[in-house]
Amino acid sequence: MDFLTWARSPWGEDILAHISWDLLWASLFAGVAFLVAHASYMTLSRHRKRHAAETDAMEAARTDLPPRIKRHSLTARLFHWVMAAAMFVLLFTAFLPIAGVKFAWVTWHWMAGVVLTASILFHVIHATFFLDFWSIWVGPKDLPELKAEMLREVGHDVDAPKPGKYPLGNRLYHLAIVVAGLSVIASGALMMSRVRTPFFTRNPYLFSDTTWGVTYVAHGMAGVALVGLVIAHVYFAVRPEKWWITRSMVLGWITRRQYLEHHDPDRWAVGDPRRG
Ligand code: HEM
Repeated sequence: MDFLTWARSPWGEDILAHISWDLLWASLFAGVAFLVAHASYMTLSRHRKRHAAETDAMEAARTDLPPRIKRHSLTARLFHWVMAAAMFVLLFTAFLPIAGVKFAWVTWHWMAGVVLTASILFHVIHATFFLDFWSIWVGPKDLPELKAEMLREVGHDVDAPKPGKYPLGNRLYHLAIVVAGLSVIASGALMMSRVRTPFFTRNPYLFSDTTWGVTYVAHGMAGVALVGLVIAHVYFAVRPEKWWITRSMVLGWITRRQYLEHHDPDRWAVGDPRRG
């Protein structure tokens, strides 16, 4: 399988054009293989939320908590769905033509690209100044939680912290999507100068052939990575044991019991407006 596609310059030199589209099928395959493997594994997994008796005791002790716990503000939910719509338009406009469905995709593609870029800029500002910025990041401090999660996975009762607002898997996923998302946005923003838009005069000669080649390869790599990442995300969102999280991205709240079953109240204190 080739990873890159080369073109010939008018002077007979080989120039980097873009990634090989075989990688699109590889990413689709990896995404589907992951969900089949995970679904099979989940039939064996002994992973449990907090035991019913322990949750009952916590519920009895925490009568101060409201029956509904706010998980995502309306602004955060609107951002999520605008970004998701832009992402789907980008994926389909980019890859349907490669899969053989021909249509005038470029205009739809760059317009969705502008929406995605604007929504991410908004999200960065919103999350930095109005949300609990650090709640989504992972680092070495999370190793005890990782160890505890692995032990719980094989059926042990572990007296270690449950996650704060975001489970470890969600935080790792967010990191991967940040890397792929920012790469596709940065390269896509440069590629805008090669196509006709109302913003500026088209200039395909802004960079050398090599720089363009690298930019297209970066865009393609990040794009195909997003195929696998989006498949995994949608798969988790539709799994029945995750519906409570998916529903909260629509309605904005989870129940008090779900909050106590799945989270460590010390690490995600409700009532703090920056943690909503
Ligand atoms: C999910 C995100 C995205 C995916 C999967 C994606 C994928 C792709 C792919 C596969 C191509 C064809 C590249 C080639 O021929 O080598 C492309 C072209 C393009 N993309 Fe994206 N892209 C995404 C996001 C963006 C964003 C955010 C922007 C703008 C900020 C953007 C702007 C462009 C432009 C202008 C082209 C056309 C370049 C040309 O025809 O010369 N893309 N994209």
